[in-house]
Amino acid sequence: MPVATMSPKAGQTATLQFDGKVTTLPVVVGSEGETAIDIEKLRGQTGMITLDPGYGNTGSCKSRITFIDGEKGILRYRGYTIEELAQKSSFLEVAWLLIHGELPTSAELENLESEVTRHTMLHEDFGRFFSALPKDAHPMPVCAAAIGALATFYQYPETEQNIRDTVVRLIAKMPTIAAYSYKHSIGQPFVYPLNKLGYASNFLHMMFATPCEPYEVDPILARTVDLLLVLHADHEQNCSTSTVRMVGSSRANLFASISAGISALWGPLHGGANQQVIEMLERIAAEEGSAEKFLAKAKDKNDTARLMGFGHRVYKSYDPRAAILKKACADVIQRVGGVSRLLEIAMKLEEIALKDDYFVSRKLYPNVDFYSGVIYKALGIPVNMFTVMFTLGRLPGWIAQWLEMRQDPDFRIARPRQVYTGATDRRYVPIAARVELTAPPEGGVR
Ligand SMILES: CC(C)(COP(=O)(O)OP(=O)(O)OC[C@H]1O[C@@H](n2cnc3c(N)ncnc32)[C@H](O)[C@@H]1OP(=O)(O)O)[C@@H](O)C(=O)NCCC(=O)NCCS
Repeated sequence: MPVATMSPKAGQTATLQFDGKVTTLPVVVGSEGETAIDIEKLRGQTGMITLDPGYGNTGSCKSRITFIDGEKGILRYRGYTIEELAQKSSFLEVAWLLIHGELPTSAELENLESEVTRHTMLHEDFGRFFSALPKDAHPMPVCAAAIGALATFYQYPETEQNIRDTVVRLIAKMPTIAAYSYKHSIGQPFVYPLNKLGYASNFLHMMFATPCEPYEVDPILARTVDLLLVLHADHEQNCSTSTVRMVGSSRANLFASISAGISALWGPLHGGANQQVIEMLERIAAEEGSAEKFLAKAKDKNDTARLMGFGHRVYKSYDPRAAILKKACADVIQRVGGVSRLLEIAMKLEEIALKDDYFVSRKLYPNVDFYSGVIYKALGIPVNMFTVMFTLGRLPGWIAQWLEMRQDPDFRIARPRQVYTGATDRRYVPIAARVELTAPPEGGVR
């Protein structure tokens, strides 16, 4: 496996000059040439910290798992391009690759498939967990809570073997939990997993089969779900992955860390965007009528509308996953029909936006969510399950990142600092002497 050294090249340092003092800081160079100033000793040497809201310039770890070049639109898992993996790999193969660092042999893959297949059922007592929740519960908090609750069923010491079993259990049970959260929300009976089916087929079976009639999984649709999972499997240190690492850095167990990651993914600026894309497309179809009209709103600073599914913190060119999904989208719609109007609107929005100076000058291109929602919709996946689909895909990435963090020789509990800007030392005011403020205090809320 070609891996270049992660240590600084001989003699490479950066100097920081402040207040008449010069501090020399080591430089770390990654295997793809990414260069970082190592500030681990900065506070000790200078008394200063760095400030980087949103962490856009901060590397939180060294990682061997996923490489993104946002300027060139490159995404690779363990060195393999997303295009090649999307075309040739299965989701479980990619899960193994992410977690173990190498593609599995056929014996390893067979073993993983068989282990995962045999751990898909949930403890029968889990039924009580679902019945305690409101009928209209959004499946994302249901999944986050269910994964957290799994920890109560497997309260074992964290040996290497037990962690390995937890990894298999999580990958195996996630589709069951996801499908059950959906079945619960529509009042249908849970459908048990079927061991003769593959990973994606089993998920579709648990989602859409009922006890009343036979359900045949369409292999083309199952392959599309598998592709979607592959494309979402990891994306280096994004919000939810950093959350998984952050929570895990306190030595919280894998169930708790993944549960936190699911909660982070739920937000509309992260995993929730695909739901917002479809809602946007449906709104355009119903109200605005034209892509041009909506784009004008998205550009207007006085309007809160954004072109959902466009723009990315890291990609400053076309997200390679969006390109793969655009093609898959057309194929699925050809197969099942149904949402071609939404695809038409999406393609029109993209066509106009990519010629519009507002989007071009800000380097705003379609991201993975722009087309994934249209595919989910065509597959019959309800809108509130879109982010759950993202969760299913991202799971092996979270696991791989959690495991890597635990084995990292530089491992420390994550504990960022802050620049305090609040009140300085002041004396306590007795309640009788306090006056009500007529406006919120600076930086405060009413
Ligand atoms: C993904 C996202 C949160 C990245 O945010 P960011 O890196 O912090 O970038 P900013 O929000 O600072 O955006 C930079 C500029 O582009 C504009 N912009 C970014 N995304 C935009 C969008 N989707 N529609 C319209 N304008 C957008 C911002 O208003 C800002 O303009 P300004 O420089 O005139 O103030 C942001 O692009 C977004 O909200 N996209 C839509 C949601 C989405 O698809 N999320 C899924 C991500 S996978």
